[in-house]
Amino acid sequence: MESRLKALEKEARLEIKEASSIEALEKARVHYLGKKGELTKILRGMGALKAEERPLIGKMANTIRENIGDELDKAKKVINDKELEKKLQSETIDVTMPGKEIKIGKRHPLTQAMDDLKDIFISMGFEVAEGPEVETVYYNFDALNAPEDHPSRDMSDTFYINENIILRTQTSPVQVRVMEKTKPPIRIVSLGRCFRNDTPDATHSPMFHQIEGLVVDKGITMGDLKGTLGVFAKHFFGPDTQIKFRPHNFPFTEPSAEVDATCFKCGGKGCSVCKGSGWMEVLGSGMVHPNVLKNCGIDPEIYSGFAFGMGIDRLAMQKYEIDDIRLLFENDMRFIEQF
Ligand code: DAH
Repeated sequence: MESRLKALEKEARLEIKEASSIEALEKARVHYLGKKGELTKILRGMGALKAEERPLIGKMANTIRENIGDELDKAKKVINDKELEKKLQSETIDVTMPGKEIKIGKRHPLTQAMDDLKDIFISMGFEVAEGPEVETVYYNFDALNAPEDHPSRDMSDTFYINENIILRTQTSPVQVRVMEKTKPPIRIVSLGRCFRNDTPDATHSPMFHQIEGLVVDKGITMGDLKGTLGVFAKHFFGPDTQIKFRPHNFPFTEPSAEVDATCFKCGGKGCSVCKGSGWMEVLGSGMVHPNVLKNCGIDPEIYSGFAFGMGIDRLAMQKYEIDDIRLLFENDMRFIEQF
């Protein structure tokens, strides 16, 4: 029995040495040390041994089991190391190879203008409000004091979905929605898409963007409007920018004014950007009409407010000297990357 055990050990060591894969080692382990393996088979004959021989053979069998186990572990480690080495070699990277260029996007000039506008007005204590792009005639016209026969209501100017529902033509309806829900003091700006039934050309797009501003509180005057817009113009166009008011008419403000700013390019001397006038038309504004306040449940005897609205596409075109509004919506990276 002793010699059979020794022969088994020898045979196992040889097989382990020759094994070239983890699977072959596992097969060897089952073959020699498994429940039905060779070692067990030999030990089944223990009963035929003399009593004093049994512990010796038992000890020997344990040693052999341990030795074979150790050999298996060692061989496994060698194979694993070899495989790792192979993998590392096949996966080495050549750090001298030229890298692949990753194209980083760029904020669209309109997004940049909107972010700038938000920053400026938020820094003055305004909050950003939102309203729907698909609006009702009530919010877009009626509540804003637009007369029944106002030309902007016409089908040729406005996209109607049905008699009462339209695509908003301005961001002004957000004023009404905010005033209906909020008690003064109110200080909001609202930025977003507007739609008009215009044929696209260099200065018109049926989809464009506006920012609307609204302040309502006790004792708000035209002076507050002028101060606020002056700060805005200096931040947006440059610290030397001056503004001037021209009388105008909007249904939802009384009095109303259009606001011009000195040309950021020439500072007021006159150049190609301002077409020689030294001024750029920037926005519409005025004191909120008492009828609009009343329509929203705010008492015009107690409160007053100012409002203003600007075309963001126009602002961006002025600031970045873009001469065709359609370029803003073509999504050509060669154009967008310039700003
Ligand atoms: N909604 C006007 C437009 O689309 C712009 C405007 C003018 C907004 C005066 C105002 C305002 O809030 O007070 O032409």
